[in-house]
Amino acid sequence: MRLLAICGSPRESGNTRRYLELALKEAQTLGAETELVWLGDKTIHGCKGCYGCVQARRCVIEDDFQPILAQMARADGILLGAPTYHASIPCELKALLDRAGFSGRWACNEMKKADEGYTWQGSLFSGKVVAPVTVARRAGQNFAFAQLLLWAACNDCVIPGNTYWNVGVAGKGGAVDADGDSEGVGIMQGMARRMVRTIEALNRT
Ligand SMILES: Cc1cc2nc3c(=O)[nH]c(=O)nc-3n(C[C@H](O)[C@H](O)[C@H](O)COP(=O)(O)O)c2cc1C
Repeated sequence: MRLLAICGSPRESGNTRRYLELALKEAQTLGAETELVWLGDKTIHGCKGCYGCVQARRCVIEDDFQPILAQMARADGILLGAPTYHASIPCELKALLDRAGFSGRWACNEMKKADEGYTWQGSLFSGKVVAPVTVARRAGQNFAFAQLLLWAACNDCVIPGNTYWNVGVAGKGGAVDADGDSEGVGIMQGMARRMVRTIEALNRT
């Protein structure tokens, strides 16, 4: 079982990464193989809406997107981690998800004309277990959380529940103090256990 965490914070060792690492460590104790990719040193341009992926069956923009997409495609479970920026996820993660979701769909399906339907053939993300994780200093994390949740729900993913939303409260004055939110720490660990159990259950069916 492979879990991939995508850290959408521009800060390499910030609160988002800390929560993701807590979750991955918990998953490791249950036997999962884990990896973390940080978007902060990658170049990922926004989707241009060129529809080039419909013909090419892959995103045609050449930058650091393709290797990350390959990591996502290999994973059984994906943690999408984001700090809250003005009640939203940061632009780098948004760019990745726009391109991954759109090109991932047309990698597996043929686009028809406006008046023709298509039979869903799945996407690169069909059946993957996806968990959103957001961090905020004070407010707005629910909106960012909802962005990630809506991406997963629209991309044929399985979203495990938890005892609370997977959110942490940290970062006042730029502090890296994720561990200070002990409830948040427990939420991330519980999320990891639920992801692993969900993947195990899906593999049994
Ligand atoms: C540009 C910017 C916008 C932010 N917007 C919000 C916000 O809307 N709500 C909030 O509670 N915190 C906001 N914050 C604070 C961060 O979400 C918080 O410090 C978080 O812990 C940062 O995560 P990181 O350490 O992984 O980068 C903002 C920070 C920055 C730099």
